[in-house]
Amino acid sequence: MPGFDAPFFQAGLAGYSDAGMRIIARRHGCPMCVTEALLDRTLLAGGRGFDKADLGELHDNIPGGNEDHPLTCQIMGSEPAEMAAAAIKAMEQRKRSDREYRMLAYQGDEVTKLHRDEGKTKQILRAPGGEVIGEFDPTEGLDDSRDSCDPLDHTFGDDAFVDASASETSSLRHSVTSSLAFQCIDVNLACPVKKIEKKSRGGHWLTDPKGAVRLLEAVREAVPAGVPCTVKLRRSFDDTPEMVENFYRIFEACYAIGYAWTTVHARTVEQKYIGPSRWTFLKDLRERHPDKLFLGSGDVWGVDDIFRMIAYAGVSGVSVARGCIGNPWIFRQAREMMAGNAPTQPTIAEQREVLKQHFELSLACTRRFRQPEIATAMMMRKFGIRFAMHHPRGEDVRRRFIAVKGTQDWMNVLAEHYV
Ligand SMILES: Cc1cc2nc3c(=O)[nH]c(=O)nc-3n(C[C@H](O)[C@H](O)[C@H](O)COP(=O)(O)O)c2cc1C
Repeated sequence: MPGFDAPFFQAGLAGYSDAGMRIIARRHGCPMCVTEALLDRTLLAGGRGFDKADLGELHDNIPGGNEDHPLTCQIMGSEPAEMAAAAIKAMEQRKRSDREYRMLAYQGDEVTKLHRDEGKTKQILRAPGGEVIGEFDPTEGLDDSRDSCDPLDHTFGDDAFVDASASETSSLRHSVTSSLAFQCIDVNLACPVKKIEKKSRGGHWLTDPKGAVRLLEAVREAVPAGVPCTVKLRRSFDDTPEMVENFYRIFEACYAIGYAWTTVHARTVEQKYIGPSRWTFLKDLRERHPDKLFLGSGDVWGVDDIFRMIAYAGVSGVSVARGCIGNPWIFRQAREMMAGNAPTQPTIAEQREVLKQHFELSLACTRRFRQPEIATAMMMRKFGIRFAMHHPRGEDVRRRFIAVKGTQDWMNVLAEHYV
């Protein structure tokens, strides 16, 4: 993947890793970013009715323009046809109408649960928690007029997917302006959020390796051969030998099907995000598969952990997740260490500049919301808590950040504490 020139990247982080966070990471040397997990149904439905979803929302998963590359779009779902259609839609960036993408996914009753209402075929829309939040007829077109979504240079639409320019309609691979395209599709077989309608998704696929392989095959077949597809997975569903065996079946199938690499989070699905990530598992995996390109995830809190994981477990690279929330300097430090230098801590002036830039980018991402300043303030409070950890008066600064209600409040904290 052009540009992915160092053995680490910024992981998908639901609720955090929008274009703003990604661009800040890139300005500090992060060579590649992944969007947060986006449900295939959310993507196919155009985000309608999913605003309160506990997983990725469309507006957080849109490429943020020229600076936001290379970018991987992570998708997650339960049905091979839906996943394949979602992958195509992500890659094509609306070369076809929304209706056509839905037709790709829902052309047969066997594809997903449909119900008949006065002779019409309706698709039930469910929030990730399972709650029915609406329905639509996949054979009827919805309003396809959308804004483009580059938070820096274009008008941003909160329910939109990027609208490729009308002149670029020829072949699939050439249909997207390069600044707005994804470079890779990542299939999420790791998310621990509960199943809906007893269907597998995310990490729950580790209990059903045959189903997982069908899903992986459908996506790989749908995405053009020149576009890499990758997989994020957990080391197992739980600690039973049967589930560990499932992991190996899926892991090996990924490469046989043609996935470029996997990222293995060395916690079980049952562990969610709690307890240690078992790096010994990654080391064993490397011994078992010396030739496979796989990256490690879990318990990467500081720059040293990146190189410790590579040295200890022999992973090809490292996914940086919670360790980079409010800490984009981890990427600068990793670059410094790769150049043979000691990692440097951010000065107060550098922190101030990043806090200002991050807020501005976040505002750009939410500028089409009804109350962009409030949406940005809510988002930036989460980051502020983490940024405050770098400040000598961290506790005072933290308290100020969590009370921020808009731009002026944010700038006041910077003016008072970051001089
Ligand atoms: C708040 C939060 C949201 C996450 N969202 C995603 C996601 O959307 N996609 C994904 O692949 N992993 C997601 N993860 C998992 C991380 O990418 C990573 O695998 C995990 O946090 C382990 O790494 P760490 O212990 O270094 O944080 C999320 C983790 C957290 C804490």
